[in-house]
Amino acid sequence: MAEKNLDWGNIGFAYRVTDHRYVSNYKNGAWDEGGLTADATVCISECAGILQYCQEVFEGLKAYRTEDGSIVTFRPDMNAKRMADSARYLEMPAFPEERFLEAVDMVVKANADWVPPYGSGASLYLRPYMFASGPVIGVKPSDEYQFRLFATPVGPYFKGGAKPTTLCVSKYDRAAPHGTGHIKAGLNYAMSLHAYVDAHEHGFDENMYLDAATRTYIEETGGANFLFVTKDGVLVSPKSDSILPSITRRSLLYIAEHMLGMKTEHRPVKFSELKDFAEAGLCGTAAVISPVGRVVNGDEVIDLPSGREKMGPVLQKLYDTITGIQAGHIEGPEGWIRKI
Ligand code: PLP
Ligand code: COI
Repeated sequence: MAEKNLDWGNIGFAYRVTDHRYVSNYKNGAWDEGGLTADATVCISECAGILQYCQEVFEGLKAYRTEDGSIVTFRPDMNAKRMADSARYLEMPAFPEERFLEAVDMVVKANADWVPPYGSGASLYLRPYMFASGPVIGVKPSDEYQFRLFATPVGPYFKGGAKPTTLCVSKYDRAAPHGTGHIKAGLNYAMSLHAYVDAHEHGFDENMYLDAATRTYIEETGGANFLFVTKDGVLVSPKSDSILPSITRRSLLYIAEHMLGMKTEHRPVKFSELKDFAEAGLCGTAAVISPVGRVVNGDEVIDLPSGREKMGPVLQKLYDTITGIQAGHIEGPEGWIRKI
């Protein structure tokens, strides 16, 4: 299929309407057969649970054009499972994981000419989501839901691309202990918008959230987990019950340990340790690995030794490996790549 004629190197991280999306509805205790539609709009009750009480969960994954021109997705089974976990936590019926994978394949195939070319730095972002479509006025779970999955081509999440970001330690909290920080629900992102706008108004790219209970441990940003590299070359990533279990982070820790022979630590990370790290970065589907150059906490300014011009050498190696697996020129662990 012919590729769409976009300036692929400069598309940014934005929504573009593509041709086909998948829809399935849940009613009377069952999901319907589902299928593709050209209709990019949603029509629901004014009293739908999503509109009143924010009952919604979502996922994010990408389809990549490989060196030989074929199209692949990266560990979509992990997204299927995490979405089912998120749904159950919000008292929603899980969308069957096998059907999630079929929907991914169908939407990518139907929008194949929207998959950016190999080497462009862009990819096709996939957004599966599920929301309460039935009316609720008392606070309770809805009886009806809609699952949808659309695709939109995207470039780098941060404007500067690979240039290190500057973060501020947020005075706001993203997630409470024993709350919803570990699931991918829109409500967590609504919570973060004021903090995000505040950070941007003060010239920062993103927030670094600390743990809400003690404000001593590093949690995550609004849309990515953290990675740190110690001066001895150990890859460290924060562990917390109130952050999203990033698929990129889990993959990178595996790659570091099993493919690059590095030592890794997944453990609570104190903010006071930050000044001793050699490199810092954000990781996620959208962020891939985005380096962090500076973190500001009130009057305290912490500059990472890797500098403010480019990614540090260890994160660069991890970046090259994971993007190499996604582009098909490095063989990844079995089952990580799903051919479309
Ligand atoms: N943390 C948050 C809050 C996110 O929104 C995301 C994005 O999905 C991540 C972390 C990274 O997760 P993943 O690597 O699974 O995309
Ligand atoms: C993703 O990385 O897929 C996300 O969902 C992050 C989002 C904030 C864009």
